[in-house]
Amino acid sequence: MAFPFTKSKESPLWKRIRSDDSTRLRLKYDTYYHIFEHQEGTRVWKDGKEYIMLSSNDYLGLSNHPRIKEAGINAIKKWGSSTTGARLANGGRIFHQELEEKLAHFMGKEACHVFSAGYLACASAVTGFAERKDLILADKNLHSSLWSGIQLSGARCERFAHNNASHAAEILEDEEKGTNKIFVLEGVYSMEGHIAKLPSFVEIAQKYNAFIILDDAHGFGVLGEKGKGTVDHFKMTDEVDVICSSFSKSLAGAGGFVASSRDGIDYMRSHSKQTIFSAALSPASCASAQAALDIMLEEPEHAERLQKNLDRYRSILYNLELDTWESETPAIPIVLGEKEKVYYFWKALLEKGIYAIISIAPGVPPGKDLIRTAISASHTEEDLDRIEEAMVYAKSKI
Ligand SMILES: Cc1ncc(COP(=O)(O)O)c(C=O)c1O
Repeated sequence: MAFPFTKSKESPLWKRIRSDDSTRLRLKYDTYYHIFEHQEGTRVWKDGKEYIMLSSNDYLGLSNHPRIKEAGINAIKKWGSSTTGARLANGGRIFHQELEEKLAHFMGKEACHVFSAGYLACASAVTGFAERKDLILADKNLHSSLWSGIQLSGARCERFAHNNASHAAEILEDEEKGTNKIFVLEGVYSMEGHIAKLPSFVEIAQKYNAFIILDDAHGFGVLGEKGKGTVDHFKMTDEVDVICSSFSKSLAGAGGFVASSRDGIDYMRSHSKQTIFSAALSPASCASAQAALDIMLEEPEHAERLQKNLDRYRSILYNLELDTWESETPAIPIVLGEKEKVYYFWKALLEKGIYAIISIAPGVPPGKDLIRTAISASHTEEDLDRIEEAMVYAKSKI
């Protein structure tokens, strides 16, 4: 109950909170933050209705793999729920070190540090290295975690047009020689599904003696030999200084990592506040990520099924002449260009039992309002039949 006395003292911030347009519109159209009461494989249930999940990033379909579940359960039994503190303060555990060594080896780097979220890992990959006098060259379509890292680093930032190395080179022409230059790129751009034009960026970085930080949240597990990611896809592991990634996509877990040289990781551990002041990755998340990594190495059938599903899904969208923004990966946008169209398309998919996600400007460039979808190895033929039928229906509604 609000007393008149407390009401009169209410801060103006509450007025802003209660009159916020984005929140009001989000609640009105009920587009995000849905709660599902049950899940089985790619199927989720909301208010008793079944949907096929078409927007999660479980690319390899491992989220229900028995070995991953068992690894998490056993880790909790052995180590408890959490180490309840930052590693700098109350230490890491042997399971952190084991996963870091495995990941570093897998990625072809000397060392690695694991985090409790991919967001933290990617922000740390920037704050751990960039500082105020440095110049960051950032693709304008970067993920929010990297923008957070860029802002927190205090470095000067110049944005270049999406995946456009020549634009980045033009910016660099006018820069002083002595400045530290840092490229921040994504291996696979999460919204667009585009693969970074890494060879062109490496060429410019070498010309200007620049450092490269690459977020491979969506390339890891999908591209390269055994899923080693974008750097392996281009055979450019040594040319990229720092790789960061998330466990919440192909590894079907929670957490993330930064991989680099030994001295790079030691330096980040001294300079990134997100590394120093945030609690360690939990025992269950660590063990599950390690099991998922082993499965990626030992069971190629998941990647094979992903490719098969991807081929079928792409042909469904292609036959319907839907614009997929030239996505080259399992992260596939359906660009409709206007938010009204996006809304009606999304509603029609929901009606047919397909769950996808809306992304509109300013989250995407103007004119690129889209439905973001992602295909998984765990989608079945029957799922794809239903997805096809729903896409035909949704297209007829716009
Ligand atoms: C490109 C990219 N980087 C970082 C992250 C953050 O990872 P997480 O969600 O695991 O915290 C995401 C997640 O969506 C992402 O798409």
